[in-house]
Amino acid sequence: MRIDKLTLENFRSYVRADIAFDSACNVICGENAQGKTNLLEAIVYLSCARSPRSRSDRELVRFDAAQSFIKGNVFSRERDFCVEIDLFTARRRRMKVNGVTVKTASELSDVLNTVFFSPEDLHLIREGAAARRRFMDSALCQLRPRYAAAHAEYARAYEHKTRILRDSEEHPSLLDALPEFNEQLVRAGAAIIHYRAQFCRRLAEYAAAAHFDCSGGREQLQLSYQTVKTVEDPFADVSQIEAALRAHQASHDAAERASRLCLSGPHKDDIFVTINEKEAKAFSSQGQTRTAALSMKLAEREIFKNVTGEYPVLLLDDVLSELDPRRQEFVLNRIGGGQVFITCCEDDRLASLTGGRVFTVQNGEVF
Ligand SMILES: Nc1ncnc2c1ncn2[C@@H]1O[C@H](COP(=O)(O)OP(=O)(O)OP(=O)(O)O)[C@@H](O)[C@H]1O
Ligand SMILES: [Mg+2]
Repeated sequence: MRIDKLTLENFRSYVRADIAFDSACNVICGENAQGKTNLLEAIVYLSCARSPRSRSDRELVRFDAAQSFIKGNVFSRERDFCVEIDLFTARRRRMKVNGVTVKTASELSDVLNTVFFSPEDLHLIREGAAARRRFMDSALCQLRPRYAAAHAEYARAYEHKTRILRDSEEHPSLLDALPEFNEQLVRAGAAIIHYRAQFCRRLAEYAAAAHFDCSGGREQLQLSYQTVKTVEDPFADVSQIEAALRAHQASHDAAERASRLCLSGPHKDDIFVTINEKEAKAFSSQGQTRTAALSMKLAEREIFKNVTGEYPVLLLDDVLSELDPRRQEFVLNRIGGGQVFITCCEDDRLASLTGGRVFTVQNGEVF
């Protein structure tokens, strides 16, 4: 899939922009605060009705304007689509696909998918496990409706159990309901582990290949899924995973009641990341961290392609800084398949660019 044309009106710093893109590689160049990320943000919004960096639609409307407009001409599933979104400061947004009003974000993602990489994604490597769980959850919730259902059920039961444990000192009778919620957590938890294990297996394979290429064959990236200790084989039958989770819960029951915390279950899962056999979180350099996080995003894109049959549009915000020339060359020229957008501040980094189109953004205008 690809985005052929983008029109913006009063979106962020843009008064008006009409841009025709290259079907393969688009490099958006410009000094700080000129509107590069704003442009990528508009494309992400067309794919999921959400900004990757703002919770409120109001912030997207240009200062002093009351509404803004984003239009994308998209080619996907062998067809042309026109996606139009009006954003307002004072009322709810309006979205249309080919002139027909749509209500939900998933109706947009039926047309356009994006994978967005920003410097914040370095937390995939540097931060604690929660960042990596969010990464798995957001990809799997989009790709697998049954995962999304299990994830929602787990979250509900987890919240109930947490409340029961927390309030049990004052109201000990609440503990009578604990077994029921434990069983819900076991069922939903086993489904979550089943999907995460498969996802991580493919993620590990694709990310290792991307990292190896990007580093010129110098570095091995390894990702391994880590879940509840008693689950010896996360690829086993779901019933076996359930049994392992029950055993783990039983052995932590007393500790959970004493600490009044929920200690057992996949809400503590992680992906363990190493580069050349050293833990990335502790030992990787800035360029290695960036390469590893980028490789995970590229792997996510491959998984999307496997499931949906098409590459999502890849948006790389400020990925070139801190990379050496070899790694920059990889990003600019060797990310195969699909359409790619790359922002950068200095055009001297583009000496190695062999194809695609370069745009310059200055003060909210695109040349
Ligand atoms: N709602 C808005 N109305 C008008 N201007 C806005 C709005 N929201 C953000 N801006 C402005 O947009 C400008 C450009 O933002 P953007 O993040 O796209 O810059 P950038 O080119 O990516 O810069 P950098 O290289 O520093 O990342 C900022 O100066 C910001 O003040
Ligand atoms: Mg930016």
